[in-house]
Amino acid sequence: MLIPGDGVGQEVVPAAAEVLAGLGLGLAFVEARAGYEHFRRTGAAIPDETLADVAAAGVALFGATASPSTPEPGYRSPILVLRRAFDLYANLRPTYSLPGPFSRHGIDLLFVRENTEGLYAGRERREGDSAIAERVITVRGSERIARVAYQHARRRSRPSGARVTLVHKANVLKVTDGLFRETCLRVAAEYPEVATDEVLVDAAALHLVRRPESFDVLVTTNLFGDILSDEASALVGGLGVAPSANVGERVAVFEPVHGSAPDIAGQGRANPVGAILSAVLLLEHLNQPEAAQRVRAAVAQTLQAGILTPDLGGTASTRAVTAEVIRRL
Ligand code: NAD
Ligand code: IPM
Ligand code: MN
Repeated sequence: MLIPGDGVGQEVVPAAAEVLAGLGLGLAFVEARAGYEHFRRTGAAIPDETLADVAAAGVALFGATASPSTPEPGYRSPILVLRRAFDLYANLRPTYSLPGPFSRHGIDLLFVRENTEGLYAGRERREGDSAIAERVITVRGSERIARVAYQHARRRSRPSGARVTLVHKANVLKVTDGLFRETCLRVAAEYPEVATDEVLVDAAALHLVRRPESFDVLVTTNLFGDILSDEASALVGGLGVAPSANVGERVAVFEPVHGSAPDIAGQGRANPVGAILSAVLLLEHLNQPEAAQRVRAAVAQTLQAGILTPDLGGTASTRAVTAEVIRRL
């Protein structure tokens, strides 16, 4: 399933699909609609057929959709609808050094972001002159995301040893993040071979800039993971290169971390690398490690050769970067 969505999603998803098609794996592509443009035309942010298609396919590559910052009756960000509909509880956001002067070196970390609860629980309301958001943390939600983090840490087996860093704000949010922390620590005890440490989210924001190479896996709640993963992307080239996976039990949706980028949409200058590296995560999910590795290498060679979009300091177009990746496959 391909769901380009709005803005640069319409440019980077076709680019990543072209790379996937270039592998000759016999993958079949179905394109589906979603997004703010679609909502304006039809009244549906994500039509039922798109949800049915995603359920049938089991995997999707999503671009980005636009969401206004003012309430819009009937509109909810399609990616939030997908996460909710398919219980895509694990948001995996790998952040690692890339070849080129735009990236810092020695970074290889993975954000494991809880993707269904916290401040994204959808419990927000107005009461007179007050506005209230409820932050929902559950044992079940914390336990399952912690397991994902420890399993990934174990599988990654970094030379310096596997480590999970719990990121929270339990010094203030004693009840909600207290439960998240306590539950994660209980899961940690099941993985004695993985080291555990913890850091408050504000300090985590600092340490990510100061000593990003010291992190392995970071597990955190929904909004903190959203913010920290954008921050960390800047260390290795920015949002244009950042991939992600939204993983549930039966369905997984892969998407670049960035949004619809209205400031550059339609100009042919969006960086397709985040979408292409999301397609790599999709290939790994489909148990195609060799194909995934080929694309990873082709992207690295393209960057190393200096074929870069403007966000990385180059002058190449979306198309030129994509063509170069395919040429090097
Ligand atoms: P954004 O990620 O769209 O853009 C932030 C900055 O990054 C901009 O300067 C943009 O030009 C740059 N950027 C983003 N993608 C790029 C790419 N592929 N190549 C080069 N530069 C790129 O974030 P925003 O401006 O805060 O949000 C714009 C819209 O996107 C909002 O409506 C927001 O709700 C939506 N959004 C959607 C998703 C999603 O659907 N998954 C994610 C984030 C934001
Ligand atoms: C992301 C995005 C989404 C989020 C928005 C578009 C709802 O920022 O995937 O990081 O906040 O999770
Ligand atoms: Mn985000």
